[in-house]
Amino acid sequence: MSLLVKGGLVFVNGSFVKKDILIGDEGEIADIGASLKGDETFKATGLLVLPGLIDPHVHLREPGDTYKEDFVTGGKAAIAGGFTTVIDMPNNKIPTTTNARLDEKKDLAKKALCDVLFHFGGTDDNFAEVKKANPASMKLYLGHTTGGLILRKPDSLERHFKEFPKNRPIVLHACDHSENEAENLKETYKSITCFLSLAKEYRRKIHLAHASTAHEITITKSYPLCTTEVAPHHLFLSTKDREKLGFLYKVYPPLRSEQERIMLWNSLEKVDCIATDHAPHTIEDKEEGAAGFPGLETSFSLMFDAANKGLVDKEWLVKAMSENVADIFNVEGKGRLRKGFAGDVTIIDPKKEWVVERTELQTKCRWTPFQGKKLKGKVRTVIKSGKVVYEDGEFV
Ligand code: DOR
Ligand code: ZN
Repeated sequence: MSLLVKGGLVFVNGSFVKKDILIGDEGEIADIGASLKGDETFKATGLLVLPGLIDPHVHLREPGDTYKEDFVTGGKAAIAGGFTTVIDMPNNKIPTTTNARLDEKKDLAKKALCDVLFHFGGTDDNFAEVKKANPASMKLYLGHTTGGLILRKPDSLERHFKEFPKNRPIVLHACDHSENEAENLKETYKSITCFLSLAKEYRRKIHLAHASTAHEITITKSYPLCTTEVAPHHLFLSTKDREKLGFLYKVYPPLRSEQERIMLWNSLEKVDCIATDHAPHTIEDKEEGAAGFPGLETSFSLMFDAANKGLVDKEWLVKAMSENVADIFNVEGKGRLRKGFAGDVTIIDPKKEWVVERTELQTKCRWTPFQGKKLKGKVRTVIKSGKVVYEDGEFV
């Protein structure tokens, strides 16, 4: 059965236009235009019709830590947040660093409502595994992370830079060990400068994960093959929130000062994409010092609300959460509303006012650093491969 999305403001070729979208039987976009006909019709009058959003950075925790999240709950959180595709990070109790584990993950992820892709983890000694897996992207950690996946030998970074296909991104987590704010920033900048000079030497693509300061964006922009992402928690929270968040406060990279936070906003349009860095932990684990925030269900609305307030351009935002991510990570046939592309569509009610409420979240951890925040603009409906899977807070 074909599905016609009718009467909405549709994001095509970088701007919003009044058009209809026809998704064919095969789940792909069959046509975009006026006066189209489909077997079923979804009325999108007054709504914004976006390509299914793509999140380049999530931690869905399966296998190994499924008490925090799994592909079912993480997949639901993704869909509720407007994401039809997510790229899962390799760090975990059971890291994605071998082909056997990657195959296992792919199999387990079939139960997710959204599409799940994987960044392969690089270690000090898994060069043969990386070569065999031949993944679309690789992640290297030089800083603290959950699960302890980290490069320890200085030569490993260079060897991965040299051996991994140059036109596919290596995603980097900069070194950020110090508890002291100024020291931590110094370490971060030093490690990014090192990534950039090595990347230049090997003329390779790299992607900086969770840039949290404007200076990181300035330095990465000196090299055209380096892309960056920013996570909303670094845009909306700062050291000022330490008391309010209490034991929930910890995240890597850490929250920065108010001044840094404001400077980050001013650099945002130079950034390539927004990533949720969805890193769920139970309340008990947070009490014991686990680092990370869940973000799938709040990120789009936080950013859209900011766009409503004129803090960021709406068209830039949609690109940063869809087509730019697809382009950087070579996600074929997704990230744009275009004939022949996946019938993955996120429909937004731009005027809907709502309050973030932890008990309404799909993530298994069921807390959020944004509890009680009032936002305008909400994911109304999500269509995955031509089927309505989520509508008005309910899974169909
Ligand atoms: O705060 C963080 N949490 N930073 C990371 O790099 C990893 C993440 C997690 O997996 O919990
Ligand atoms: Zn992360």
